[in-house]
Amino acid sequence: MQKSNCLRILVLTVLGLIMLVGVPSWSAVEIIAGPYLQSPTESSMTVMWMTDVNSTGLVEYGSREDLSYKAISSHDGLIDANERIHQVTIYGLKPGGTYSYRAVSQEIIIFEPYKVTYGETAKSVVYDFTTLDQGKKNITFIVLNDVHENVENMKDRLARAGSQPYDLVFLNGDILSHLETEEQIVNKLLKPCSEIFASRIPFCFVRGNHEARGKYARQLKNYLGSADQKYYYSFDHGPIHFVVLDSGEDKEDSHWAYSGLNDFDRYRDQERQWLVSEIESAAFKSAKFRVVLTHIPLFGSGQGHGTLDCREKWAPLLNKGKVDLHISGHTHRYAVLESVPGEHDYPIIIGGGPQKEGGTFIRVEATENELAVTMTRDDGEIVGSFKVKARR
Ligand SMILES: [Fe+2]
Repeated sequence: MQKSNCLRILVLTVLGLIMLVGVPSWSAVEIIAGPYLQSPTESSMTVMWMTDVNSTGLVEYGSREDLSYKAISSHDGLIDANERIHQVTIYGLKPGGTYSYRAVSQEIIIFEPYKVTYGETAKSVVYDFTTLDQGKKNITFIVLNDVHENVENMKDRLARAGSQPYDLVFLNGDILSHLETEEQIVNKLLKPCSEIFASRIPFCFVRGNHEARGKYARQLKNYLGSADQKYYYSFDHGPIHFVVLDSGEDKEDSHWAYSGLNDFDRYRDQERQWLVSEIESAAFKSAKFRVVLTHIPLFGSGQGHGTLDCREKWAPLLNKGKVDLHISGHTHRYAVLESVPGEHDYPIIIGGGPQKEGGTFIRVEATENELAVTMTRDDGEIVGSFKVKARR
């Protein structure tokens, strides 16, 4: 057989195989969400991101000119190497310092005891973040609640809120509805937030009752980097000591809708125990302002079991601790409740619902002397505006 015939047969065979099994593809690891910033402190920042396949996770950081510092995550002496959800905390930072960073993941093709073969590397764009700073005189934060997966409305709210700079974002519950899949968390929360702000500005997650529903609710925490891996926590920034509580479900644990799988009464007891010591802490007592966030407001949201249980367990402590402002959602009806001595000795602002007609975002601008609070409806109208003066 002539050489040219052999070559023709070989080419035809290869073409036939390609037609049979399709064009071969070599997929490289990809970052599918993030990076997004979590759990900020004065000296650390947690960077999270997701990849499409298991890979290593590394954060390169420093300045725009020099990203030669590296942060990794390891457990029990082993560097995390088989992850799709990456969580790396950078320690040793300065208060109020601005740093540049990028997320880096490398795929592991062969993972044998004595031989690891690395594959492609994915790198994010370089972003900047700024650590928290208790000495900062002015800070601004925004609050969104009850988006209920209406991503377009959330984007519009964030675009409107972004006309002025802000330091922090609180997602005050029911951003998602009942949780069934990872795709919901990625597409309705992590991706849109990362694209708009969360690669540069951290978000603090406040769990809503809907985020406690569905078979994937127990996995939600894996995608968040809240302090101590809890849904209740506190931290300081500028003149504010923030306290986040998880108000849990709105109905009694024995309600048919929960199929015998809820234990929120005992959980809210645990939070009460934590709150008892929290209000006695030096950070709580010495702050210029104490701002509390819960998804379900303790007042102004009917007489459901969740509301009443939170009220009974926490409200006396919030009064005792001289809380200055409480921010909530849940009702889907925006409202400002003036302080009622003996019940809530502080104003409560309740953000609106998912739909354009009643959706809102809340902005708080804090100085050492006052909190200036505004609530803006989706049509741009300001539907809540008041100031809280420093008590001391
Ligand atoms: Fe809710």
